Amino acid sequence: MSNSTGTDIVVVGSINADLTAKVQRHPEPGETLLGSGGTVSAGGKGANQAVAAAQLGAKVTMIGAVGTDQMAGEALTHLRQSGADMSAIATVDGPTGLAIITVSDDGENTIIVIPGANASVTAEFVDKHSQLIENAGIVLLQGEIPADGFERAVDLSQGRVVINLAPVVPVGHDQLRRADPLLVNEHEGALVLDMLGTPATTSDPQSLVTELLEQGFTSVVMTLGAEGALVGTPGQLTAIPTPKIQAVDTTGSGDAFAGALVAKLSEGAGLIEAATFAARVGAYAATRPGAQASYPTLTTDLPSTTH
Ligand code: RIB
Repeated sequence: MSNSTGTDIVVVGSINADLTAKVQRHPEPGETLLGSGGTVSAGGKGANQAVAAAQLGAKVTMIGAVGTDQMAGEALTHLRQSGADMSAIATVDGPTGLAIITVSDDGENTIIVIPGANASVTAEFVDKHSQLIENAGIVLLQGEIPADGFERAVDLSQGRVVINLAPVVPVGHDQLRRADPLLVNEHEGALVLDMLGTPATTSDPQSLVTELLEQGFTSVVMTLGAEGALVGTPGQLTAIPTPKIQAVDTTGSGDAFAGALVAKLSEGAGLIEAATFAARVGAYAATRPGAQASYPTLTTDLPSTTH
């Protein structure tokens, strides 16, 4: 499904098997609920974003690891079909990363990630792929690999670095500030400000983006769920609309947004155009169950933001 136009994207990130239970509502602490589903599907924020970008025609290489268990096969299914280059995915002793997910009737999810093989994506591991990273036009990172692997990938990058720090984990501030854009939701944006030692003064998204820009980021994209997104560059904030949809499962829709964003950036689009497209892709993904299984291709009729 890849083309050979545009800049090369290298994703250094996690590959998980997602074990998903459907529940009417999320359990309270100490509560047991009956659910349904229990199926395993391909996930991991790194792999999700790689698949999303590759299915949209971008040239993508995935750097990551799976384990020697049976989950590995399931975790790689969509990557195989997406056309992403998988030659930098290692198989390491032990289990594949596992995400335990609950999805409620309103489409909202909770996720617990057990890193498994993703814990082997250290600086030493990343160094083995230094040439790929150095030559990449865009390096895309998330927060599900060890911090030293994340930091080495940024240090090796000679192109654009896009960081979706989800989950927000402690990483080097200098490496984090290379993000262009930093891609976060409101909650993550506030946590990043905490991490940088400048706690947010407000929960207002526009102010959060402004405060992040004041911390030295070249650009910030903040996703706001049904409210769309904000694109911030020094001196300019732009609201990005999102299509109105009926959410079925929001698992991985943020990753669909991230993958679509870098796919467009790799074609030379500006941040506002890329985020406008990404909002439509993220919305589409939320109307279908699962993470990678819900992602569009180039021929998909995406929902529109005009009504
Ligand atoms: O963002 C969704 C993803 O988070 C899931 O696929 C799960 O594997 C976790 O990484």
